[in-house]
Amino acid sequence: MATDTTSQQLEKIVPEAEDFLPLLGTDYVELYVGNAKQAAHYYQSAWGFQPVAYAGLETGVKDRVSYVLQQDKIRLVLTSPLQSGGEINQHIDAHGDGVKVVALWVDDATKSYQETTKRGAKSYMEPKTVSDENGSVTLSGIHTYGETLHIFVERKNYKGVFMPGFKPWNPDYKTEEVGLKYIDHMVGNVGWNEMNKWCEFYAKVMGFAQLISFDDDDISTEYTALMSKVMSNGNGRIKFPINEPAEGRKKSQIEEYIDFYNGAGVQHIALATDNIIETVTQLKNRGVEFLYVPENYYDDVLDRVGKIDEDLAPLKELGILIDRDEEGYLLQLFTKPVLDRPTMFFEIIQRKGAQSFGKGNFKALFEAIEREQEMRGTL
Ligand SMILES: [Fe+2]
Repeated sequence: MATDTTSQQLEKIVPEAEDFLPLLGTDYVELYVGNAKQAAHYYQSAWGFQPVAYAGLETGVKDRVSYVLQQDKIRLVLTSPLQSGGEINQHIDAHGDGVKVVALWVDDATKSYQETTKRGAKSYMEPKTVSDENGSVTLSGIHTYGETLHIFVERKNYKGVFMPGFKPWNPDYKTEEVGLKYIDHMVGNVGWNEMNKWCEFYAKVMGFAQLISFDDDDISTEYTALMSKVMSNGNGRIKFPINEPAEGRKKSQIEEYIDFYNGAGVQHIALATDNIIETVTQLKNRGVEFLYVPENYYDDVLDRVGKIDEDLAPLKELGILIDRDEEGYLLQLFTKPVLDRPTMFFEIIQRKGAQSFGKGNFKALFEAIEREQEMRGTL
């Protein structure tokens, strides 16, 4: 990832966003997991992430181990505890494996901390600078929904592979990437009547603007409903849709998530590709499981979305969904939960002009999720 970009070089595309931080992009996503070594192998083998850096006993860290993996601009950190009873253990006990940190790349981590805490953010970590022979990184952090954190990362003075405290991790085992490029958006699930509170948090504390809102008329099936608003920073590199459950005849997927995660947390991470057919073919071959879409979805999909560049046959074969907005179209597909608890999953998305989120697919998608809930007995 280039470390010499500054926010002045990025175009503002969401004029309403105040964007006082500003943010350059997602720096990394850290998951607390029960067994980081095996999780790292999964993300290498199934997802094509490349080994980058490691911290643990061998680097002088006594209480935890972390593996850093990367694919193009997407950086994952997988962390497990090495002892009993600490905060990582408690997090895993409460939530299962899940996202603890959504780290945001900034010009100035000290200013980011000051600007957000003075607007009401709860402090997690005051600015601190860590150094090694490759330079220095300044970090600061605030709390967001649930037990999730935002860490601001200022790395313009650092040349190493990740950050001080980590050493390069270069195992013999390497896999081919699958064409994943960057994080398109990351979705948070929050509790009943909490969506507006957290959208206000991103507006007031982070300077984001609301792009879109979906109510339960947009996102409902015969059984379940949810509401969603999409918050974005000014340059559009950070988009956080926030979902809350809405009343339906049966339990919504958001309630199921909240029950199993024990509160608010990251629901899905959308990863962008330039060739969704190739990427999804690779992922399926390596054992990643996707939601099943009934074949009849494809009977009239082209009537709805119009002409597309791709042949319909491979899209149908892989179960890839299509939607169109005023600016173009998009192709997307969702995995089943990637953890034992029905909590976090991934979306694979290829944008061909469209800047929206696949509203036209919500109904087909949620019916697919309900079939899975039915099998889990949680509908
Ligand atoms: Fe999404």
